[in-house]
Amino acid sequence: KRLAILASGSGSNAEKIMEYFQNSPKAEVVLVASNKPDAFVLQRAEKFKVPTFTFTRKEMDAGILLEKLQAEKVDWVILAGFLLKIPDALIHVYSNKMINIHPALLPNYGGKGMYGMHVHEAVKAAGDKQTGITIHLVNEHYDEGKIIFQAATPISPEDTPEMIAQKVHALEHRYYPEVIESLID
Ligand code: GRF
Repeated sequence: KRLAILASGSGSNAEKIMEYFQNSPKAEVVLVASNKPDAFVLQRAEKFKVPTFTFTRKEMDAGILLEKLQAEKVDWVILAGFLLKIPDALIHVYSNKMINIHPALLPNYGGKGMYGMHVHEAVKAAGDKQTGITIHLVNEHYDEGKIIFQAATPISPEDTPEMIAQKVHALEHRYYPEVIESLID
């Protein structure tokens, strides 16, 4: 299977995925695409000799990303910290073939504006005793696609949002690649 990763930022999850599938007979990461020309994820992709592609929001909305994915015969689209709203046309073509990871236990802390540190700050403010990750299929509504996998981690009262973020990242890195592998099988 041919995988493309879409990411807007650092790309630590993208790196784990590239590493995991490096010598896999099941899947190959054939493209890392980003709307941010200076995103660190692009340097990580170069390290793994994975081709990169950058585009603007306008270009994406005009269909350029979909064209690229189809030209590269991409089977599965993996979102790993991708911060733009995906155009409906792209979602339709890749319906049930697009996966996202969310840094909380959906349906809690999902929806517009709930990404990155905003999520962990909200979890902290609510005084929750646990948080976690959700891996889900992508549909037209933010964070509402079918949930594939969740894992939780306890929070202690002393944890800062940064510490919560670290715990969540550790879960993401541990589980995202293997959940992708079992899903594409
Ligand atoms: C992750 O926490 C992921 O859940 C969210 O964006 C973050 C990306 O982190 N959607 P990184 O760029 O993979 O380090």
